[in-house]
Amino acid sequence: MLKIIHMNVNGKDVELAVDERESLLDTLRNRLGLTSVKKGCEVGECGACTVLVEGKAIDSCIYLSMWADGKKIMTVEGLKGPDGDLSPIQRAFIEEAAVQCGFCTPGLIMSAVEIVGTGKKYNREELKKLISGHLCRCTGYENILNAMERIVEETYKVCGE
Ligand code: FES
Ligand code: FES
Repeated sequence: MLKIIHMNVNGKDVELAVDERESLLDTLRNRLGLTSVKKGCEVGECGACTVLVEGKAIDSCIYLSMWADGKKIMTVEGLKGPDGDLSPIQRAFIEEAAVQCGFCTPGLIMSAVEIVGTGKKYNREELKKLISGHLCRCTGYENILNAMERIVEETYKVCGE
């Protein structure tokens, strides 16, 4: 059965008819063309499909689109600046060589946005736990943690002290 939903996706209001069983992953990726949202395991185990719903990181493969009615959604596409410039989080991932094949990267970046948004200065061990729901098949976890640590420290310097 179809249901009309309204969402704000990356700052734009969207109205869509969605099947009651449709995942937010499929809606964002297949219908709105937001291909940063990756389809990995589809059972909430790998984190590749992570997006923010009302600022909270969720696995969009196990989140029904109809639950997103009236909510704000953010994907990596929404992080771009007005001139298409990369966000500091994306730059940190590139500069720390935290991107290998890149499949896990958008999900990790959205979790980083949530982590940084807390304004807390998490240490490396805490960051490890916070990103434990993300699997990187290229196994470059050290560089991913370096990027996370760097962005947390940079943000804390600006806002936390
Ligand atoms: S595709 Fe959603 S958690 Fe793996
Ligand atoms: S960079 Fe390849 S899966 Fe993580």
